[in-house]
Amino acid sequence: MKLPVMRLADDRLCGELAGCDQLALLLDLDGTLIPFAPTTEAAQIDSEAVELLQKLLDAGVHVVVVSGRPKPLIEPFRRALDGVWWVAEHGSWRCGADRCWVGPPPAPELDELAESLRTLALAAGVRLERKSQALCIHWRLVAAEHKEALVSACELACEEWLESHDEFERLDGIEVLEVRRRSFHKGIAVSWVREHLPDARILAIGDDRTDEDMFAALRDNELAIRVGSAHTRARCWLPSHHAVRAFLGWLASARTNSAVPPFLSLESIRAQAPAESGLVVVSNRIPPAAPGRERPVGGLVSALEPVLRHHGGVWIGWNGAEAEGERPLLVHEIDGPVRASFELPPGTRDHYYGGFCNRALWPLFHGFPGRVRYTDDDWNAYVAANAEFARHAIGLVAPGGTVWVHDYHLLLVARELRERGFGGPIGLFLHVPFPHRDLFDTIPWADELIAALSRFDLIGVHTSQWAENLRSCAAARLPSRSMPEIAVLPIGVDPAPFRAVPATGSADVEGLRVALGDRRLILGVDRLDYAKGIPERLLGFERMLERWPEWRGKISFVQISVPSRAEVPEYAELRTRVETLVGRINGRFGEADWVPVRYLYRSYDHTTLAQLYRMADIGLVTPLRDGLNLVAKEFVHAQDPSRPGVLVLSRFAGAAEELCDAVITNPFHTDGVAADLDRALRMDGDERRRRHGLLCRAMAEKTPERWAAAFLDRLVSCRGRGTGLTG
Ligand code: UDP
Ligand code: G6P
Repeated sequence: MKLPVMRLADDRLCGELAGCDQLALLLDLDGTLIPFAPTTEAAQIDSEAVELLQKLLDAGVHVVVVSGRPKPLIEPFRRALDGVWWVAEHGSWRCGADRCWVGPPPAPELDELAESLRTLALAAGVRLERKSQALCIHWRLVAAEHKEALVSACELACEEWLESHDEFERLDGIEVLEVRRRSFHKGIAVSWVREHLPDARILAIGDDRTDEDMFAALRDNELAIRVGSAHTRARCWLPSHHAVRAFLGWLASARTNSAVPPFLSLESIRAQAPAESGLVVVSNRIPPAAPGRERPVGGLVSALEPVLRHHGGVWIGWNGAEAEGERPLLVHEIDGPVRASFELPPGTRDHYYGGFCNRALWPLFHGFPGRVRYTDDDWNAYVAANAEFARHAIGLVAPGGTVWVHDYHLLLVARELRERGFGGPIGLFLHVPFPHRDLFDTIPWADELIAALSRFDLIGVHTSQWAENLRSCAAARLPSRSMPEIAVLPIGVDPAPFRAVPATGSADVEGLRVALGDRRLILGVDRLDYAKGIPERLLGFERMLERWPEWRGKISFVQISVPSRAEVPEYAELRTRVETLVGRINGRFGEADWVPVRYLYRSYDHTTLAQLYRMADIGLVTPLRDGLNLVAKEFVHAQDPSRPGVLVLSRFAGAAEELCDAVITNPFHTDGVAADLDRALRMDGDERRRRHGLLCRAMAEKTPERWAAAFLDRLVSCRGRGTGLTG
């Protein structure tokens, strides 16, 4: 099944349906209008849903609830909601404006199946739900440790029974399996509505496999919306029952008021490989699909967003969710570059992301061997996740197209792509440092990792030091002909958004301006990560206040710490440590009218950051190790060239290789940080301007677009040359 992307057309269609004379809304109940509950009986239509349905009725919509529930579990709602039409048991019971239609008497054959399952059900909390033409086996309440065995036993019993009952079929739902007479399905609801409302156009919404029959019966000028992600015939997708309610609210308003703007969070869905793309960019994280959802903070997203806007191509990544079973690719084309996302199997978050990526590779690559944890489970999850990324990427890339992989999460993707027969260029850009050989050697799977890295045609890093480390690790483990090609290509920052600082800021910025008065501002901006050296810079600031008491009351240190990887224990511990230090410094030096450190545990958008950078006298960037550090570059771009602030930069940030005219500091040396801060605060205007000029020169012409173009040109040419790397 290959489905077109219909984003614009669907918007139009949606608007058209909202405005058409007769609109029939066929709405599934459980998982669509109302959330699932442990049992069907417990899932009730709440007052918000009742109000919504009433609003739709008032707006002239023919509302038809199409459920798979048995009739007794629909009847009470029917009495409470006058005007709504009801379909139960997938169409075998239907109740319209003036009469109800009851299907054939209960199928006796199903009693036999129910009997064979009863012992299993009694033993382990499986719930059997008898409908007139179907039997449902629910396992939502079964304890996790028994689930697998129990589900297999139930499936086996059903399959055996079905072998001798051709007129029945099996349907797999969410924590439920249903055996149902083939002739009753939700498509019947569509024919029934057409019979009674021949001029109506239909909009159908549902969340599971049984709703697909309803979708299949729709016409081209009608619309189906699937809730959740799955293979579907529907052209649109809504993520949850909350989103369905938002959509229904919009529909009711749009019908009564033509000035209501389009509903923007309707997403296009592709169930399988969509049109192929010449460039597929793969990263663990991508900006979220749904508009309005918070943008993830981090150098990778900051770097790639402008690149993808400029170059086109598809950006593919994990959507952060876990799911069993089929995990299709969802393609989003709203608000920015085309993104395709997918779910990963249960356990991925703990073992791949929170495990091998962020408790093994991240600390190791940043030089914290004491924080590293290697486990076989984490490694296996990493291998499996990399294979999934490759599987999805290969479905998207055109033959001969280019795949550009990003960062330490995906070091095995080239190997996986090659094993699946992909022959085009594959590049990797590593946004983090590459560690020294002594550290790399501690990885139990070091040989496998290096061999997998050699399957890339080109590996890009930010500094010559990371390149040197990678070269020496590879040389120790690989024959020279299969050494990967390595390029040192530090990414640049587009100066324009940071230079165009609005004159007045957001309420937060203006509030800070007032609170600061004529005090000078030292600014730190980082994800809350132990590699960023936040405690070290607080200690340096504290020491400066001790050694140069004349600064007390005259400066404020604002530290923005963006919540990051909070599920990894080391990050939670860091938060406590930082907050304790802030409390200590403020307790020690604070006065009634002066707070030495203002600590903000949140993120800001780039416009606000630009204003804060511009206000600051000192940008304090003190990572203990960092691949590059974009904040340092952004800070410099945001300065007023006539009165620039001073960048105090750790020599262990990759950016220090280019920004050597900053005040270079050593965060491991508290007295040194204190002295460098003092020096920066005392620096005269001429020197500040001179340094700022040199820093700008070092970054001139370096934009993310140019960085990407340079990488991609080199990638294509080294694949073409045949670098000795095997395909
Ligand atoms: N950032 C942001 N909002 C914040 C803090 C940071 O958008 O409140 C952005 C910042 O502008 C920069 C990125 O996050 O582009 C951080 O990149 P960097 O290379 O400094 O560090 P990383 O987080 O990637 O380790
Ligand atoms: C660094 C990494 C990126 C990552 C970012 C944010 O910049 O190099 O790959 O996306 O941190 O971390 P997170 O775990 O939130 O993706």
